[in-house]
Amino acid sequence: MTNSIQWWKEAVVYQIYPRSFADANGDGIGDINGMRKHVPYLAKLGVDALWLSPHYVSPMLDAGYDVADYRDVDPIFGTLADFEALIEETHAAGMRIMCDIVPNHTSWAHPWFVEALAHTVANDPTVPAKARYAEGPWARYHLLRGQADGTLPPNNWISIFGGPAWDEIKDADGKGTGWWYLHIFDNSQPDLDWDNEEVQAEFRGHLRFWFDRGVDGLRIDVAHGLAKADGYPDCPELKDGDPSHKNPYWDQDGVHAIWRQWREVADEYDPARIFVGEIWVGPAARSARYLREDELHTGFNFGYMTAPWDAAEIRKNIDDCLRENAVMDAPATWVLENHDCWRTVTRFAPIIGEDTKKKAGSGELDLAKTVDWKSPRDLEVGRERARAAMLTMLALPGSSYIYNGQELGLEEVFDIPGEMRQDPAFHNTNGESLGRDGCRVPLPWGTSSDSFDFNDNDKLWLPQPAGWKNLAANVQDADSESMLNMTRAALKLRREQAALGGVTDEATALEWNRSSKTVLDFVRPARDGGRAIRCVMNLGDKSVAIGQHNGVILESAVGVSLGDELAPNASVWVWA
Ligand code: GLC
Ligand code: CA
Repeated sequence: MTNSIQWWKEAVVYQIYPRSFADANGDGIGDINGMRKHVPYLAKLGVDALWLSPHYVSPMLDAGYDVADYRDVDPIFGTLADFEALIEETHAAGMRIMCDIVPNHTSWAHPWFVEALAHTVANDPTVPAKARYAEGPWARYHLLRGQADGTLPPNNWISIFGGPAWDEIKDADGKGTGWWYLHIFDNSQPDLDWDNEEVQAEFRGHLRFWFDRGVDGLRIDVAHGLAKADGYPDCPELKDGDPSHKNPYWDQDGVHAIWRQWREVADEYDPARIFVGEIWVGPAARSARYLREDELHTGFNFGYMTAPWDAAEIRKNIDDCLRENAVMDAPATWVLENHDCWRTVTRFAPIIGEDTKKKAGSGELDLAKTVDWKSPRDLEVGRERARAAMLTMLALPGSSYIYNGQELGLEEVFDIPGEMRQDPAFHNTNGESLGRDGCRVPLPWGTSSDSFDFNDNDKLWLPQPAGWKNLAANVQDADSESMLNMTRAALKLRREQAALGGVTDEATALEWNRSSKTVLDFVRPARDGGRAIRCVMNLGDKSVAIGQHNGVILESAVGVSLGDELAPNASVWVWA
């Protein structure tokens, strides 16, 4: 464990997607005992902490982001005792452990929602549109009277997973009641009303439940949600680049009071527990507001994750984030992959036959219906770029997240039969949006079983590509030139070299060495008696001169920095 008190300012956190990581009981779905088995692998990788996507009791209609019981473990993942053993073993291996918390909505199987539905009233056309119950079981959710005598939803809000964000509640005979509930995501995920004090108190209890068990921090799902604009106004037509709070259900000012409450709970502990927010908010000055000293510690920089393969756009994102976060004295949090978006290998892979000048990767997230997943891509280049992007990310000041399998260079999987797909984003759009299953395919660990040692048999909740045999962790372990070993080397250097530490002061965090359309080139200045380190990344299609330096430290792939030249699609760390 790093000794620094503010470990989170520079931690590299490894995201485990529980159903995809490793399966100990052989049912085809990853579980907690699978994680326990691989704690030594994670310690050897050199990450500082783990973050687990939800492990709670759930009908799994959104892979566990639909929680029915926030204080227990879903039986498909194991038991609370297994989870406690995982906490202990992770700590003993020198890492911290964080879990996910989902406050914007519950599952429709949560006892609160079940109770609300059991409490239906008769359809009464004299009740005006948008009328609400201020107390009782209905008041915990956004349950509103519909428009046009209840026959239409209360407003025009749409669900992230397709269709309207409102569903009408039916009576015992299946007839509409004229009352509607809000679900910004799947209709199995009713939104909670965070003006309700019972909701607030219940969640403070959830935090304590896990903090008391030794969980070091929480990743907050949809941390820019929760608060809704007063009066439920229609969403105006939004243009590209509009600040996120223009949407009446994102980034509303009311959400900050909730994070202040949560910060108080985290600060009750010694050592204090920490938060990382899933904050899809722009521009950077607005997302930094979540990182004020009495709110969240960290928040993902999604602008970095969605930036295309383009030096100028990436540099602008880095500058904006460092500048705005420094105002709050907060570290930056870099991320390239997670369970909601395409893997970098595929995202950055150029489409074969397309003009090489065309930027790859721009906004190619799973939920967009417009992304081109049918044209074949050059995955070899994609893999080089994913390695380069990893090395650059790990040189940036602040904290970084690695999504399970990213260290193996896994690609997005498109070849999944429709009937095996689980993501509601696929089903709610009749397959128009592919959804996110392609980045959730079970990990390859070895070559002795048909599931590449995900378990000891051939059962898999999603099929793996045959080529993953060569990408399995133990194959890469034995290959000194693999992406796995490159990542390990980078993480080891991060621990040894003070220059690579977490700095929140904009002036000393990073210095740009050159400005170019195709090259990122920055220095992390010397600190604490150590040496300065420079990172150079070539995003162009020709080799570039590295320029004056004092020796190569690490390359994104062996041989990319021959002589003074850096190959295309490569990064290198050198002594400045
Ligand atoms: C977040 C999660 C995503 C989930 C959604 C609803 O965006 O990352 O996986 O579907 O919230 O909880
Ligand atoms: Ca299992």
